[in-house]
Amino acid sequence: MIITVTLNAAIDKSLSVPNFRLGRRHRTVEQTTLPGGKGVNVARTLKTLGQPVIATGFAGGSTGTRIVEALTDEAILNDFVRIREESRTNTAVLDPTNGEQTEINERGPAVTGRELELFRDKLTYLARGAAIVVFAGSLPRGLDSDVYCDLIKDLRKLGVTVVIDTDGDPLRHAVRGEPDVVSPNVLEAEELVGHEFNDDEDMTIAVREMVALGAGEAIMTVPDGCFASVIVDGGPVLHRVRIEPREAIATVGAGDAFLAGYVAARYSGKAPAECLRFGVACGAESTQRLGAGLVDAQRVERLLPEIEVVPLTVPAEVS
Ligand SMILES: Nc1ncnc2c1ncn2[C@@H]1O[C@H](COP(=O)(O)OP(=O)(O)OP(=O)(O)O)[C@@H](O)[C@H]1O
Ligand SMILES: [Mg+2]
Repeated sequence: MIITVTLNAAIDKSLSVPNFRLGRRHRTVEQTTLPGGKGVNVARTLKTLGQPVIATGFAGGSTGTRIVEALTDEAILNDFVRIREESRTNTAVLDPTNGEQTEINERGPAVTGRELELFRDKLTYLARGAAIVVFAGSLPRGLDSDVYCDLIKDLRKLGVTVVIDTDGDPLRHAVRGEPDVVSPNVLEAEELVGHEFNDDEDMTIAVREMVALGAGEAIMTVPDGCFASVIVDGGPVLHRVRIEPREAIATVGAGDAFLAGYVAARYSGKAPAECLRFGVACGAESTQRLGAGLVDAQRVERLLPEIEVVPLTVPAEVS
């Protein structure tokens, strides 16, 4: 079983609005409303790929009820801790005439110490039957930024493989908990290692720096694939994975689809390079549809041969 954790779950609205202008009134030409938050998106893609998954996290108020009911309607197994404050609704406006997307994310509920304790118990219980736990997304208000770090340590003691995709302070603390895998995008990785990347060499060094900070494996997604340090035969090996970028309908959630693909392949026992290839295929496929976490498994398979996976020679040691 795979568990996905979404501490700040949401209802995600994606609106397609041609010629979107600030300060004007518009009509949508297409819209999707789905339960979301990064961990929920990952669970949706895992379910589509036929992997056994349970989505957990916090859900509050009538929006929380809607999240849980909509997940159940999608036949995504879920077990959320109910909280007192209302879960958030996030809105993404996509302009099909120029491909621009505007996102407005609500601040979300505050979580109490008691609610966190309930969650910790639930996660420990669920993790007993799990091989992989994926933490994804931001933290709700009221939680300390080291909460992921504590949860990661709990799970590592149980021998579960832990994967985390978050940003900012929560990511910085999380790597200290020594997760098995971190998967930031470029901006998130720059913030984590503390400098900007100008070229491929900087990005290659960055994934090694993330490993030096505590992650077992580090995968940094870029719009045309990823850079990764993954463990092969007991030691870290650097990889560059490349795909020809495609014209996107929506790139929101491409990183979530990537992560789900990577985790699905890993759960199936595929070799590390093939896990990266599968992740990149899922990320790319997801850009062809409105709504995060939506992929077509057959189209993902068709993309696999187009993806180049190159092991990289090791640059000088990171001090
Ligand atoms: N236009 C594109 N064409 C092909 N693949 C893409 C495109 N955009 C993104 N991808 C794929 O999706 C994966 C994740 O992309 P990206 O780094 O943009 O994620 P992200 O910023 O974490 O997204 P989010 O957090 O919104 O889910 C990458 O590995 C990349 O291969
Ligand atoms: Mg991301």
